[in-house]
Amino acid sequence: MTDENLVFQSYGRCCAKAEFFDDFYRTFLASSPEVAEKFTHTDMVAQKQLLRAGILNLVLYARGLPPTKLQALAESHSRHRLDIKPHLYSYWINALLDTIRRHDPEMDEAGIRAWDRVLTKGVEVIRGGY
Ligand code: HEM
Repeated sequence: MTDENLVFQSYGRCCAKAEFFDDFYRTFLASSPEVAEKFTHTDMVAQKQLLRAGILNLVLYARGLPPTKLQALAESHSRHRLDIKPHLYSYWINALLDTIRRHDPEMDEAGIRAWDRVLTKGVEVIRGGY
């Protein structure tokens, strides 16, 4: 199976778990005080819904959709707006990969590497707009 299809199916299994996004944000916020500080005033219930679509945009970009949605995220996360420093994206990717490992029983290390490649491609578009 291609990376893109493997990841698409894995994401379906993750989204079916009610705790997936809670667990992701717990892991992401615990990964660095710099990350936690950015979310001090955030409505985390709304944020989890936004991220559900955000990850889908990364997955669809890897499947060939144009980067329009990712370019909008690049703009909102840039130095002029949310000011998300480029090094913070590795915390994001690592927290997501750890959460996927815990929630998708069909994932093995080759699957995690496929996820890493798919995410990195789209994250480069967002991070590149800093
Ligand atoms: C807001 C997705 C990485 C911090 C958002 C929003 C989405 C999103 C969809 C909603 C608002 C908007 O459209 O801009 C993503 C995706 C990421 C990513 C797909 C992966 C590359 C990060 C990283 C940080 C971060 C690494 C670092 C701390 C924030 C903050 C907000 C936000 C602080 C605003 C929260 C608020 O409204 O208070 N993100 N994000 N994001 N993101 Fe990200």
